[in-house]
Amino acid sequence: MKRDFLTLASWSATELRRLLELAGRCKRSPRAYASALSGKTLALVFQKPSVRTRVSFEVAIRQVGGSAIYLGPEDVYLGKREPTKDVARTLARYVDAIVARTFSHQDVEEFARYASVPVINGLSDAHHPCQALADLFTVQERVGRLKGATLAYVGDGNNVLHSLAEGAGLLGLALRVATPPRYRPQAAIWRQAVQHAARSGGRLTWCENPREAVKGADVIYTDVWTSMGYEREGAVRRKAFRAFQVNQALVKQANRGCVIMHCLPAHRGEEITDDVVEGRQSMVFDQAENRLHAHKALLLTLLKGV
Ligand code: CP
Ligand code: NVA
Repeated sequence: MKRDFLTLASWSATELRRLLELAGRCKRSPRAYASALSGKTLALVFQKPSVRTRVSFEVAIRQVGGSAIYLGPEDVYLGKREPTKDVARTLARYVDAIVARTFSHQDVEEFARYASVPVINGLSDAHHPCQALADLFTVQERVGRLKGATLAYVGDGNNVLHSLAEGAGLLGLALRVATPPRYRPQAAIWRQAVQHAARSGGRLTWCENPREAVKGADVIYTDVWTSMGYEREGAVRRKAFRAFQVNQALVKQANRGCVIMHCLPAHRGEEITDDVVEGRQSMVFDQAENRLHAHKALLLTLLKGV
């Protein structure tokens, strides 16, 4: 049976912990799996731009002996030139796995339903599981643990937050979220994450005051106020999120050694200030690097069962 990676919550806590361990091994010994996926081909079907997800997957598959083919929006015209399900079934005849970055989450699900090979969600409107996997790896590395680590997320209740919430619920983190009330995370995703947290010893809380959220936090995390596909709402969002900027004054409210995370790209002067991105506590580029190690672990798990 092929396995997909569409959301974090579709994997168990044990499976996620195993992926994180493998990501650690990949980081410590970059050449350990040099020919593990020799001859395998990965297709990347992207409807939106990408630097980190695209490049880290392309490099990851090469470092384990395989190769990648990138298909951008102009190549596929997903759902316009032909139905998504036809693209999925065709690609599955040529390649061993597919990374899909789409607008609607239903499109990634359709890919997974029709492709006979593993499908990885490279970001949809609702989820960004690859990002969250690398983020959990980064928290573990920097804070020294996941269980009980306190992560404050300040900003938009978007795809990145949804996946972080699922990961926090499964692996027992304390996640404190501050968003404007209109931009809370989706109720169904949040509810399920809270249920997982009840079992794992994690704790998920929401408030509308960034200062309250970051108090005592080990990590402050933020993401853009306007995600790809929502550009028309840019002006309204800039106004709604004005009080949710991660700046020095907010960072001072958190634990002294707290670290700053951002999935990137960052919009300096909006959700985060330039001095915070460039500051001592920022780990945004370590976080970006960890995408590579996490993706290698994911490919090895899905394609080889390491
Ligand atoms: N964080 C992230 O997914 O970056 P890209 O959009 O550049 O892939
Ligand atoms: N929330 C952002 C993440 C970019 C990596 C977006 O969807 O545009």
